[in-house]
Amino acid sequence: MKQYPQLIIAIDGYSSTGKSSFAKLIAEKLGYIHLDSGALYRAVTLHGLRNGTIADGKIDADALVATLPGLEVSQRPDTYIGEENVEGLIRQMEVSSYVSPVSAIAAVRTFVDDNLHKMASGGGVVMDGRDIGTTVFPNADLKIFMQADDLVRAMRRYKETTDPGTTFIDVLNNLRDRDRRDSTREVSPLRKADDAIVLDNTCMTMEDELNWLFTLLEEKYGFEF
Ligand code: DC
Repeated sequence: MKQYPQLIIAIDGYSSTGKSSFAKLIAEKLGYIHLDSGALYRAVTLHGLRNGTIADGKIDADALVATLPGLEVSQRPDTYIGEENVEGLIRQMEVSSYVSPVSAIAAVRTFVDDNLHKMASGGGVVMDGRDIGTTVFPNADLKIFMQADDLVRAMRRYKETTDPGTTFIDVLNNLRDRDRRDSTREVSPLRKADDAIVLDNTCMTMEDELNWLFTLLEEKYGFEF
């Protein structure tokens, strides 16, 4: 594969704007590593559900944090806990319903950020999340902030749902609730970095998005495709 400049690309934005799918495709096209930070918050949540520190609508934050030193997470590119591939399990509704409050725990954020920094050493990385351009990699070479109409986002997520009991309204409510929580929490809230470029993909296909990005990389970063 052709060797492209090794940038750090940070993609942030609202839930279900297609950040991870876009980041994954960029990584494939450029030969970069893709890191999905939301998946790591989801893996921590699954871990808490399994060890009982998250149960019956409550999160015992101190107890959960105390178990983090024994938690080994990685992305290869699927998400793993130890040697177990948990990529499917972390997308289930039960994990989605707890992941926002879990991600608001400061020590959980430190745990995830440390793992991201370890996995990203070396550059040639595209990383997606909520605070990559503001907190995790404030010096990223390129920052993209993704947004889209929330009904369109909910429909995209609903089509991917595998839980038979989940309705469109469940998905829409979960998405709106997470947007609100993620934007208003105290620690590292979701917000556009001042130097991020907005990509509103309400009416765009993935191919449109890729063309948009490639033009940007050619014009501003000297890429040759
Ligand atoms: O991208 P996602 O929906 O899989 O992310 C799951 C949750 O993780 C989301 O509700 C907010 C949180 N998150 C975060 O707080 N910071 C990040 N960098 C990525 C995700």
